[in-house]
Amino acid sequence: MIGSKLPGVGTTIFTIMSKMAADEGAINLSQGYPDFNPPDALLDLLAKYARGNYHQYPPMAGVAYLREQIAAKTHALYGREVSADNEVTVTSGGTEAIFVALQALIHPGEECIILDPAFDSYEPGVTMAGGRSVHVPMRGDDFHIDWDEVRAAITPRTRVIIVNSPHNPTGRLFLPEDFAELTRIAVGNDLVVISDEVYEHMVYDGAGHTSVLTIEALRDRSIVVSSFGKTCHATGWKVAYAIASPELTDEFRKVHQFVTFTTHTPTQWALAEFLDKHPEHYRNLPDFYQAKRDVFNTALEASAFTIEPSAGTYFQLAGYASIADVDDVTMAHYLTRTVKVAAIPISVFYDAAPGQRVVRLCFAKDDATLREAASRLSAVTHIE
Ligand SMILES: Cc1ncc(COP(=O)(O)O)c(C=O)c1O
Repeated sequence: MIGSKLPGVGTTIFTIMSKMAADEGAINLSQGYPDFNPPDALLDLLAKYARGNYHQYPPMAGVAYLREQIAAKTHALYGREVSADNEVTVTSGGTEAIFVALQALIHPGEECIILDPAFDSYEPGVTMAGGRSVHVPMRGDDFHIDWDEVRAAITPRTRVIIVNSPHNPTGRLFLPEDFAELTRIAVGNDLVVISDEVYEHMVYDGAGHTSVLTIEALRDRSIVVSSFGKTCHATGWKVAYAIASPELTDEFRKVHQFVTFTTHTPTQWALAEFLDKHPEHYRNLPDFYQAKRDVFNTALEASAFTIEPSAGTYFQLAGYASIADVDDVTMAHYLTRTVKVAAIPISVFYDAAPGQRVVRLCFAKDDATLREAASRLSAVTHIE
């Protein structure tokens, strides 16, 4: 028989909790996806391109019109000129972009720094490349990064560091000092940065997103990932992109062409025209999601959960230490089965979880759904 290449990997918690939510008739605030549709204008464009002659292989790097629009958006938002031809690659989801980046960068025996809690696809991507994941936990209730710990984790074999701001699951943003430390460490140790910025348009309270694309010293040593799944309320479309220097893009595309070769054609055209004609969509997203965060958190104000408002992403952490002294998987199951609100335990984002009493809730839902979920959660005061 074959020996598994990923022996530690089972069904992801997102699949498990979404299924449990459906089986239990619970409101599903577990998996991160909206319960509303993409904008009508985008759906109309998809229909238009689906009816047209846009069904054969597009270029391996992505439809040129879409890459040009991505370059224009990047320039408009972050002031960085990127070449649509040599620096932008359209991928089948951020997941593909991250996987491809890891395969392109990591040689057998090399190491990748992952800051825990971390999105679940990072480690398997490193393992599949024959590399080793070195986990550095974020510390404290505010999930700050102890950069001395990161420094101590670096060895001559370290090749890549993955960062994610806005951060899933904590909703935390990198601070200016985080970027300064990241830059010092990446430059000082000749690392490549994979910057997972799929939540770039979900940043609240006027903070504004900082992309590593704006950091001169990182521009030639980073692969930046963004996702139209998040930006256009279309997680099932699986269209995303990676931006990197021409040299890194060359290596990235060598792998990408043998993983998917390219991405669904009519969807790329629809997204291109949508970006072109409706830039207000992504410009309004911070306000749109901030309003949802505030509806949810206001409705939770009288609850026994501890809520520190999320600074970014569409996730809100909820502390339950005063409600129950049980681990977070037990709590997530209880919330799903008994309270009928499905949540994600944050321990699953760790290599070695420190045992916080915290679950993650997704607020990319209709306001009425958020209010109903908050009302159910507010009824929970104590669990033996
Ligand atoms: C932090 C993070 N990175 C990457 C992804 C993957 O994005 P996509 O759905 O485009 O594959 C997600 C999706 O949940 C995510 O939360």
